[in-house]
Amino acid sequence: MELSINETKVQVTAADDTPLLWVLRDHLGMTGTKFGCGMALCGACTVHLDGKPIRSCTTPISAVGGKKVTTIEGIGATPAGKAVQEAWLTLDVPQCGYCQSGQIMSAVALLKGNSKPSAARIQTSKHQQPPGMVIGADGRSGPGSLNHGLSRATTIACQCLGADRAVHM
Ligand code: FES
Repeated sequence: MELSINETKVQVTAADDTPLLWVLRDHLGMTGTKFGCGMALCGACTVHLDGKPIRSCTTPISAVGGKKVTTIEGIGATPAGKAVQEAWLTLDVPQCGYCQSGQIMSAVALLKGNSKPSAARIQTSKHQQPPGMVIGADGRSGPGSLNHGLSRATTIACQCLGADRAVHM
């Protein structure tokens, strides 16, 4: 089967029901997309399919053929992806970092669909957190700071993109 991954055509031999996540990680060696729950709940495996966020752990490759897959390895080539990643680094958002690729992909998807989301919209659209992660006040020692950083990074990326709304995301 031919897949389009980050604007590159690749040939993959796998059963039709193989989850896209395992094709990316095991067949193509693209380990930036993470496995968390395996049940479309946590968002660690989020990639874009024709620009829309999907859970790659539950998406069979039979549903992917002919469509464009964008992963964390390729999202920085888009203006929205570049802005989110730069804001991510500026704010030092990662803690353990395991979930950040899924969070970045979710944040970029939000900005692509809404270039000026409200703070409430950012809060409600954030990547679902794994068990133990809570939304809290800023503080570098706790998991709540990751959520706070995620919100701030998304907001800053939005502001950066607002400087050039003509840019195609
Ligand atoms: S690993 Fe896919 S949603 Fe959790």
